[in-house]
Amino acid sequence: MLTQPRLQSDLLKDQVAIVTGGSRGIGGATSEMLAANGTHVVIADVDCRAAQDEADEINKAFGDDCASPYVADLAATGVCDALVQDTMKARGRLDIVINNAGYVWDGRVHAMSDEQFQAMLDIHLIVPFRMARACAPIFRETAKREDAEATPRHRKFIMVSSLAAQWGLIGAANYAAAKAGMLGLMRTLAQEWGSIRVNSNAVGFGIIQTRFGLPQSEREVIETGGRTIHVGMSMKQSELMGVTIDPDHVPTNEEIYASKPDNRVALGRTGTIQEAADAIFWLASPLSDYVTGQLIAVGGGARGGMS
Ligand SMILES: NC(=O)c1ccc[n+]([C@@H]2O[C@H](COP(=O)([O-])OP(=O)(O)OC[C@H]3O[C@@H](n4cnc5c(N)ncnc54)[C@H](O)[C@@H]3O)[C@@H](O)[C@H]2O)c1
Repeated sequence: MLTQPRLQSDLLKDQVAIVTGGSRGIGGATSEMLAANGTHVVIADVDCRAAQDEADEINKAFGDDCASPYVADLAATGVCDALVQDTMKARGRLDIVINNAGYVWDGRVHAMSDEQFQAMLDIHLIVPFRMARACAPIFRETAKREDAEATPRHRKFIMVSSLAAQWGLIGAANYAAAKAGMLGLMRTLAQEWGSIRVNSNAVGFGIIQTRFGLPQSEREVIETGGRTIHVGMSMKQSELMGVTIDPDHVPTNEEIYASKPDNRVALGRTGTIQEAADAIFWLASPLSDYVTGQLIAVGGGARGGMS
């Protein structure tokens, strides 16, 4: 397990969630938090080994059948539809969707290719759109049935965005634009889906300590769209931020996920994946049933314009 969920309950008993990119980092902690509170979690991730390992760990911790892996490149055509349909076939319901899968492919605007810009739109905006379109008929039919049976319940559709969507981010115009687009989609879904009791919200994270914050290495890669993307900060950025690693040392989860001092934010440190998952969990739970169309900033009091 990546975390020790701080709340364990049956608040979300028998519910079914899809967490994209749910095998590590923010998505992994979210999968654990949802499972700890009664949800069956479908971990949809392109990394086969990580998805299987995370599902195994969750099942070991909370009982068989709390999690299952779904291995696919979500940016490929038809995959989001298949994910939603296969989840319905296997589990018979869908209550929560967390649009979390993502990565960065940085560069200054003058040096950014069309491919680089499009790749960020694909994973951070087109994938959540396709997930929404695939879920829409299911959400509508379920709401209709519940209306007829007088058993109304809310479902949750959540975007994992970034404070870069509000402030921009030097070297990441593609990422900031895609994460901002996600907010327009989120607000529109809130309007379109209010009458069928689907809450659509976003969490805008500041710096949450994950492998995003380590220097790039040959070990941490994402295979997507026929490309190999090296995850993490470029060497230049790492040097600027004073973050170095021994290339021969495989960082432990403790090293990857430990909060670090950061005097650019009010709380003086970066956030943890547990804290990120706690915020997502609130939006996924009935505790937020009267909240929709909102961006919740989770950045430790980050001041606008940090990068
Ligand atoms: N870490 C931060 O500081 C931070 C800040 C703001 C927003 N975010 C967002 O949070 C989300 C999670 O980031 P993280 O830091 O936990 O990263 P991470 O690399 O630890 O986890 C991302 C997961 O997404 C999966 N993934 C990526 N592309 C995929 C694809 N095409 N198909 C299927 N799975 C795919 C990866 O395999 C990985 O398991 C991202 O959307 C990121 O943009 C992160």
